[in-house]
Amino acid sequence: MIKKEVLDALNAQINAESYSAYMYLSMAAYFENMGLSGFANWMKVQYQEESAHALKFFNYVVDRGGKVELKAVEQVPVDFDGIVDVYEKTLIHEVHVTDLINNLMNVAVKANDHAAQSFLKWFVDEQVEEEANVEKILSTLKLINGQGNGIFMMDRELGQRVFVDPNTAG
Ligand code: FEO
Repeated sequence: MIKKEVLDALNAQINAESYSAYMYLSMAAYFENMGLSGFANWMKVQYQEESAHALKFFNYVVDRGGKVELKAVEQVPVDFDGIVDVYEKTLIHEVHVTDLINNLMNVAVKANDHAAQSFLKWFVDEQVEEEANVEKILSTLKLINGQGNGIFMMDRELGQRVFVDPNTAG
């Protein structure tokens, strides 16, 4: 039987992941408007990943016999100040999500819920990757320093990103 404090924290995380998904979709829309379809693609994949994270939590709550309770998703930002601003906001957001996952892990530890800790381990590892991916893009952007040719090449590269569903990939 899942304890209430763990269940509440898992439900809160479904909301946080849904917010992330919606925020990245908003960033995709921003890039589409700039004519940067590769950057938009990267953000759409990010949106799909976050939706998959929300679903992973959803399915876990169901598996543990808990009740999923979906709350309203807060308004996401819709205006940005260029490509670097978008990725700086992305990094700040992912660092925040890492904190949320760590806090969630603390709740599971305190509740002596080993099953939840085992489940959350995947997200702990995932956050390392999430932060590293964004940091890499940010350093490249800083090297390019707004030069059209570099942005064009990067747009082509980010356009190659494909979504791998963590709910079906092993
Ligand atoms: Fe669901 Fe970007 O962490």
